[in-house]
Amino acid sequence: MLNQDVHDKVVGEFKARFGAAPAAVAYAPGRIEVLGNHTDYNEGFVLSAAIDKGTFFAASPAEGDDVELYALDMGEGWSGKLADVRKVESGPTWANYPLGTFAWLFGGDAKKAGKGFKAVFGGNIPLGAGLSSSAALEMATALALQKIYGTSFGKTELAKIGQKAEHTFAGCPCGLLDQASSMYGKANSLVKSDFRTNEFENVSLGDKVAFMMVKSNAKHALVDGAYASRRQACEDAAKHFAGVLRKKVTHLRDVTMSEWVLYRGGLSETAARRAAHPIGEDERVLQASVLLGQGDLKGFGALMYESHESSRSWFENSCEELDTIVDTAKAIPEVYGARLSGGGFGGSCCLLVDPAAADKIASIIVKEYKARHGDEPVASVIRPSDGAALVG
Ligand code: GLA
Repeated sequence: MLNQDVHDKVVGEFKARFGAAPAAVAYAPGRIEVLGNHTDYNEGFVLSAAIDKGTFFAASPAEGDDVELYALDMGEGWSGKLADVRKVESGPTWANYPLGTFAWLFGGDAKKAGKGFKAVFGGNIPLGAGLSSSAALEMATALALQKIYGTSFGKTELAKIGQKAEHTFAGCPCGLLDQASSMYGKANSLVKSDFRTNEFENVSLGDKVAFMMVKSNAKHALVDGAYASRRQACEDAAKHFAGVLRKKVTHLRDVTMSEWVLYRGGLSETAARRAAHPIGEDERVLQASVLLGQGDLKGFGALMYESHESSRSWFENSCEELDTIVDTAKAIPEVYGARLSGGGFGGSCCLLVDPAAADKIASIIVKEYKARHGDEPVASVIRPSDGAALVG
């Protein structure tokens, strides 16, 4: 089993705390976003992958209505009654992910579960790296609790339950990308998502290339506000195009780049720039899928560089540190492409690389980043891996 050591630690802690083996254990991986930035909530396309690091959630039913959670990596717990399950405003705010997921398994009202549960969770996804550790926790929670409570939601429904937890408990108005990638990942493959139809397809990547994630140390203020404001700008722009195009437009998914060029008049300069990003990204994802089918990794990588440029100049969700990583990567022949991955404003870059040259690539990027920003980014090779599953 992938990450067996983490599994054993989580299950060991569960036995030590509660005196018996857990009734359910689930695993869910983090994700990398490979192409298609901020397209998910615009009902567009994304290429992503589940990664080889994840979270285990071990749980058993409680006797009465007690809910007890222990976060192994934080060394911290949360406990209360079913009636106490609501957004945690201060203190152990990590509890919002499992509590929100639990509540939304029951339509948002945990009291409907009838009885409580006790759980231990832990994992090895670096926090704050843009690898969706929160979605992994939601999906592991959802699968383990689904076994305990006997609910029968499908993968997409569980992903939506995690998304509702983000919206209402964690306060992030995210799309469905992170949860869907964690659920639908497959070894050596990408997940190609269509967020209009919610169809998720695995596209083989082969084992001759790998991804390298380079985590910048950039922590930008107002990240949540910035994400929400970008989403709002896209929704406003979609309304504008709905008014001027002679076809049905509900989301930016419905607008092409040529329509953007012809009909952007009437949008503010900023709104037009924001809209250009997801529209261009959708076109790049579709083009990249064709190139991947033809084995054209260089062409695929070129689209990753274009994607970063679009983030940098249109969507303005990059930052100097991420730009340093991408600019340095561009000059290394063993890197096919590089771009920021996820929400942006800090976090990580995703590089498509020749795994044989991984050490060389990492040392060049770390050296250049250190020279420009003073501290060292963390580079790690990521292999696309299987998605979330019940493991016990
Ligand atoms: C974050 C969100 C996702 C998606 C990406 C950007 O990871 O959680 O829903 O919008 O940013 O593509």
